[in-house]
Amino acid sequence: MIQNFDYQTPTRVIFGKGVVDRLPGVMKPLGRRVLLAYGGGSIKRIGLYDKVKELLKDFEITELSGIEPNPKYDPSVLEGVRLCKENDIDVILSVGGGSVLDCCKAISAGAKYDGDPWDLITGKVRATGAVPIVDIMTLAATGSEYDAGGVISRTETNDKVAYIDSLLFPVCSLLDPTYTFSVNAKHTAAGVADAFNHVLEQYFCAEHNMVADGFCETLLRTLIHYAPIAMAHPDDYEARAEIMYACMYGCNGILALGNSQSGWPMHAIEHALSAFYDITHGEGLAIITPRWMRHILNERTMERFVNLGVNLYGIDRTLPAQEIAEQTIERTYRFFESLGLPMHLREVGIDGSRLREMAEHAKEKDLSQGEQYVDLTADDITAILTASL
Ligand code: NZQ
Ligand code: ZN
Repeated sequence: MIQNFDYQTPTRVIFGKGVVDRLPGVMKPLGRRVLLAYGGGSIKRIGLYDKVKELLKDFEITELSGIEPNPKYDPSVLEGVRLCKENDIDVILSVGGGSVLDCCKAISAGAKYDGDPWDLITGKVRATGAVPIVDIMTLAATGSEYDAGGVISRTETNDKVAYIDSLLFPVCSLLDPTYTFSVNAKHTAAGVADAFNHVLEQYFCAEHNMVADGFCETLLRTLIHYAPIAMAHPDDYEARAEIMYACMYGCNGILALGNSQSGWPMHAIEHALSAFYDITHGEGLAIITPRWMRHILNERTMERFVNLGVNLYGIDRTLPAQEIAEQTIERTYRFFESLGLPMHLREVGIDGSRLREMAEHAKEKDLSQGEQYVDLTADDITAILTASL
């Protein structure tokens, strides 16, 4: 049954070939002093850095570079907050993938706060202001461009924390799929696995509705159809554009409107893997997803597997439900595998030595509050991780 909802996404999305040319017009009303944030240099290699500098030649630019995948609180967030405060920044421009944008979200709230930004990230203190953010997304994956969340890592405590606040929605996201042509096979596949998983996290819930199911299934179908094309032909505009469009909806709640809460368990487990071993988020999810599905399959959850298997994979509805469910898990595994994704923890450098520790971490940090579709104990998570080895 459809649950009541109250929904707003304030981000303006400008999508398509050539849209970056509109950057000055988007930025102008927000102010002149800009923090330009980016990662390890991909934007320079694809000519986007020079283009942005040229487009913003009438603005005052301060740069924050070197933001790493799984963006780090120290130094990137702290450095960004310092730069914003020292230069009285009006607007933050994120140019890069989800990691750069997530980092900018933490900076944006931190810059308007006098205390330690970690208080905001962990929810100890609620932000009362945020510097506006504009982004140019260069990697299709996270959906950060259309949501109010960011994920920040703190290496010394093995923390990887999802920070969500409606103040963190970007003001505007400029999405030109041509800038994703240069994303390599590893990150293209990981991005698709991430987006695929975002949909599943919301599909697997107790109370759902036909509109949400249909929306989810369409996105999954799009990813399954276009991912192999983008892998084989990295500069195929149609494939890159469809993937970018599908990814954009991942985390802003639109897929779950009217659904009950799911708890996002696979993300909770993956965030522990990335926190302890700094692995690529989408790769961790590809490994965890089929094992989590298998672990939670039971009489109560069966209906979701059958729905997905019949509607997405075209499995014969007259087969026994258990068989449809098994095939659904198998097809999901094979899809990730076909993209060249690692399908075992050992392939990403994780052995059995810290599984229990990570399970307890995930349980304590992420899976202890809120409504969960399937309750997972630390023993359950350990079993899922063990099956993933
Ligand atoms: O650092 P640079 O040089 O830019 O290289 C990046 C990085 O090495 C490269 N890249 C990005 N655009 C490129 C490119 N290489 C060539 N051409 C381009 N056009 O790709 C590498 C990975 O980038 P990253 O930003 O880390 O990837 P992604 O967008 O997948 O972001 C992953 C992060 O987002 C978090 C993840 O946990 C992870 O920390 N998530 C954020 C979410 C959100 N805000 O809603 C939700 C997700 O579930 C996820 O947890
Ligand atoms: Zn994700």
